[in-house]
Amino acid sequence: MKVSIILAAGEGTRMKSKVPKVLHEILGRPMLFYVLNACKNAAIEKNLVVVGHNKKKVKEKFKEESDVNFIEQPMGDNYPYGTGFAVSSAVSEIEDDDTVIILNGDTPLISNSTIDCFLKFHECRGNAMTVLTADIPDPTNYGRIVRDGDANIKAIVEEKDANEKEKLIREINSGIFVFRGSALKYAIKNLNTDNAAGEMYLTDALEVLVRAGEKVGSFKIKDAHEIFGVNSRYELSNASEILRQKINKKYMIDGVTLIDSSSTYIELGAKIEEDVTIYPNTYIDKKSEIKTGCVIYDSKIYNSTIDKDVTIKSSEIEDSTIGQGTKVGPYAHLRPNSHVGKNCKVGNFVEIKNSNVGDGSKMSHLAYIGDADIGRDVNIGCGAIFVNYDGRDKFRSKVGDHAFIGSNSNIVAPLEVEDYGYIAAGSTITKKVLKGQLSLERAEQKNIDGWVLRKGFMK
Ligand code: UD1
Ligand code: CA
Repeated sequence: MKVSIILAAGEGTRMKSKVPKVLHEILGRPMLFYVLNACKNAAIEKNLVVVGHNKKKVKEKFKEESDVNFIEQPMGDNYPYGTGFAVSSAVSEIEDDDTVIILNGDTPLISNSTIDCFLKFHECRGNAMTVLTADIPDPTNYGRIVRDGDANIKAIVEEKDANEKEKLIREINSGIFVFRGSALKYAIKNLNTDNAAGEMYLTDALEVLVRAGEKVGSFKIKDAHEIFGVNSRYELSNASEILRQKINKKYMIDGVTLIDSSSTYIELGAKIEEDVTIYPNTYIDKKSEIKTGCVIYDSKIYNSTIDKDVTIKSSEIEDSTIGQGTKVGPYAHLRPNSHVGKNCKVGNFVEIKNSNVGDGSKMSHLAYIGDADIGRDVNIGCGAIFVNYDGRDKFRSKVGDHAFIGSNSNIVAPLEVEDYGYIAAGSTITKKVLKGQLSLERAEQKNIDGWVLRKGFMK
């Protein structure tokens, strides 16, 4: 069986955070998600994740993920620390003839195709252990790959234990290994903590197996980005950047125009169809769907479905749906559970919350529509407010088809305006308006002749 062991119990002290390192997010998902996702999309049948002090938080975050087995690494003064000890907590789950891939939870850019190639390579060679390595320009903080005169891999030396000559080696240990189950068990039994950090290093397994006369090897990856390890927030931001560009590239190849990829953020999982154009400073989350022909300028879209040919400018859309051909913004805010129909206009500074808006309705400027069901072809004037809250409870309003809500009016819920109901500008409406009625609620206008002259304001 092919099994993964993902190491995620480390303290992550270099992150300087109360949040476990593997839960720090890249584009809306914890780092550990990406490692697990790569394993699940590769030919791996069982995933073991080693957790430590952080176990409650990590398990909670991944409670909906299937096919993940969490294993606890004992922690405290009586136990050693380190990647070797972490793996030792999981070996009871391993059979002698398993092929075991070990990955670090802080290496989020690894791809499933690399995992599959690496597993195949290891099996074809008949190795007891294979190390995934890469040549990188700045190897600081990585374990260095030491080779003998025949270029055979001999040892992995950690930064802290490396001498000056070893520090110059640019081939590094990715932290990703494949073992034959029996060899892993043997190596783990023979690790010690004789090193500068006093930790039980998994990397020492290599020398243990070389000494035992086992066949070991290495597999050098071409795209070193994939094994980028995250130890600090600076590296987290670098990893985010690499992943973001990789995701963006995929969408561009699939027919989405990104005017400025460097300021476009799309989470893995977002569905974006061909011929969508995205302008700078846009964020689209993993649960959103954007259909063909949409043009999105400078907007944030979360968990929303945007139908064909919609234009959204400088707006924020959360947990909502927008129908075909509708125009939104600039500066509109669709709060959760707003459903706007086809060919509508939601203009400048309009806020909609928990409401339904029928096809062809327009609210072009400065309106608040909260807890309302608005029919088709309704016109909502500038400054109209759906007064949905009395300080204690919320109420809904209903507006029929072809109604007209005049500028600066208040619709005090609960209230119904029937089809073709007209509300005069500046009115505060508290009673039901019947079909075809004009409703007017304001003091009658008085014009007083000569008043300005008498006051001496006009010469
Ligand atoms: C490790 C490797 C190094 C490699 C680098 C690649 C060792 C000794 N060093 O160094 O050769 O170049 O990864 O990124 O293996 N962890 C546990 N339990 C522990 C300690 C760590 O589960 O007791 C986990 C961490 O959560 C982390 C992973 O193991 O996901 C690696 O630990 P970390 O301390 O980050 O190792 P590095 O110093 O990066
Ligand atoms: Ca690391």
